[in-house]
Amino acid sequence: MKIFNNREAIHHYLDDLRSAGKSIGFVPTMGALHAGHLSLIEAARGKTDIVVCSIFVNPTQFNDKKDLENYPRPIEEDLQKLRAFNCDVLFLPEVDEMYNSSEFWKIELGNLDKILEGKIRPGHYQGVTQIVKKLFDTVKPDYAFFGQKDYQQIMVIAHMVNKLKIRVKLVICPIIREDDGLAMSSRNVYLLPGQRKQALALYKSLTLAQELFKTESLKQIKEKVNAFLRSCPGIETEYFEIFNARTFEPITSKRATTMIALVAARIGKIRIIDNMYLNKENLY
Ligand code: PAF
Repeated sequence: MKIFNNREAIHHYLDDLRSAGKSIGFVPTMGALHAGHLSLIEAARGKTDIVVCSIFVNPTQFNDKKDLENYPRPIEEDLQKLRAFNCDVLFLPEVDEMYNSSEFWKIELGNLDKILEGKIRPGHYQGVTQIVKKLFDTVKPDYAFFGQKDYQQIMVIAHMVNKLKIRVKLVICPIIREDDGLAMSSRNVYLLPGQRKQALALYKSLTLAQELFKTESLKQIKEKVNAFLRSCPGIETEYFEIFNARTFEPITSKRATTMIALVAARIGKIRIIDNMYLNKENLY
């Protein structure tokens, strides 16, 4: 695996491969890689000639300084995993390679950064789009691979790609879960054993919503799932919503083509998010 820390160097290296007719698949990450990330590397391997991963803990998308400082950075283990999964190229920049001290970024995201995660984490999606734009400009991928777990993030990136007419195709890959259903996340390492068990409530709330969806109205589903979440010890629900998976707007009737249930909760100081399609396995 070739490792680059410098934007220009990776850009030129990939330009040469592109000129030789190779397609480029890109998996942007913040490291602390788990099976979910590795499934993205595998998906990129299956679809493109050259697989590029980036590891960069992006400061502009953290609202909380402590959260940024504490974010796990197990770089040696990450390198081993990427090598084992035959990643071709890793981009591993330092912060000052990606940012000047006086940078300003603002993109119009419509409602996307005012609802759900956008509302709870103000500025988060501005930071995500700021870095993803820079990474796309550097790597110029044909395809970029993202996990369904951060569904709103994909909607935001798709919005930016459309708005700025970036020539990249986005691929959404299914959520990878632990055996008991917990969605894999780099933040799961923060959960104490008791909290780890409590966190399963999110997965259970989504499977309950999927089951109820067969017979109940949207209003009834929301009432019953929220009641279930209230009954779960240690869970402080932030939202449970059912959205149109294409438009990412709340739905009022079951007529929308593809519907997705999204949930977020706090377990102690740790935030957990998850989602599940209700009426179709996968949109893409
Ligand atoms: O999903 C993530 O890991 C990050 O938000 C991303 C897309 C790598 C941007 O920093």
